Amino acid sequence: MDQMNLKEAAKNLNKKGFLDLEVPKELDFAKEIKRLKKEKNAVILAHYYQEPAIQDIADFVGDSLQLSYKAAEVDADLIVFAGVHFMAETAKILNPDKKVVLPDLNAGCSLSEACEAKDLKVFKEKHPDHVVVTYVNTSAEVKALSDICCTSSNAKKIVDSIPLDKPIIFAPDKNLGAYINKETGRDMLLWDGACIVHEAFSIDKLIDTHKSHPDAKIIAHPESEAHILKTAEYIGSTSGLINYVKNNPAKEFIVATEAGILHEMQKEVPDKSLYPAPAFEDNTCACSECPYMKMNTMKKLYLCMEYEMPEIDVPEAIRKKALIPIQRMLDISSK
Ligand code: 13P
Ligand code: SF4
Repeated sequence: MDQMNLKEAAKNLNKKGFLDLEVPKELDFAKEIKRLKKEKNAVILAHYYQEPAIQDIADFVGDSLQLSYKAAEVDADLIVFAGVHFMAETAKILNPDKKVVLPDLNAGCSLSEACEAKDLKVFKEKHPDHVVVTYVNTSAEVKALSDICCTSSNAKKIVDSIPLDKPIIFAPDKNLGAYINKETGRDMLLWDGACIVHEAFSIDKLIDTHKSHPDAKIIAHPESEAHILKTAEYIGSTSGLINYVKNNPAKEFIVATEAGILHEMQKEVPDKSLYPAPAFEDNTCACSECPYMKMNTMKKLYLCMEYEMPEIDVPEAIRKKALIPIQRMLDISSK
């Protein structure tokens, strides 16, 4: 690589969010990534919403909670996070001495963006007696203001661990929060945030899809809106959904979550038929895809491993505070 081009690309990293470098046309990304994994003692952690080629080359594919546990225990010099920013940040919070890279720093999350630390601080001051439970889909600054974190797979357990006489602020996902209120009988104060991917499902189109496949079971992620969840026979996190499809005798499923999950799900149940829940907008996949998750590509993954940038950095004072609610979550969740 021409050092001038690399210097220029590195200088532009803050503006662009990723290394914008030309690579030879014939480059085999999968081969190069495998080579770099060995050479650098690197581990690739990927979320189920990543594109199939990335999931296939990852060392571990999982849901948010599994990825947090994995990040806490990895024995690698370089952690390559094929997911979104808050996930890579959580890995860095848990591994301050390791280098954590993310292929594209622009890979954010609509939930994280809906809850800024300065706003949560004001809200907390208005409700000083409340325990603050935040979804992991938040920035390190927001975690630093939280009492305990949760993911979609342990949210009920985390909320149930809080004494009944303690009022709770739940941020930032109002849909997950409303679902957990229903499940636990609590009356948590809900932040007004939502996942753009799970709010994109159309109930009318979902009913039409079910009419075309009347034997299919509808299953949904709890970030979906209440009217979608009402139609679901099972509600769970991404790994919960995969396990349900694996263990349920039904042969057809309509899956209301980000379409990337179908890759791993179909591998687990090659003989079953899986249909993605349809979104309002007609798009190429007739499903709902996360534009943030899909910012990561094989080329960006290769470049970030080769040059070890962009790197995730969390100021130590914030990191120490953010670690407390994450560690509490991991401890309670593993009991
Ligand atoms: P889980 O992986 O915890 O199911 O969450 C889904 C999600 O939206 C991650 O951003
Ligand atoms: Fe955020 Fe939704 Fe994308 Fe997950 S799917 S990263 S919650 S916007």
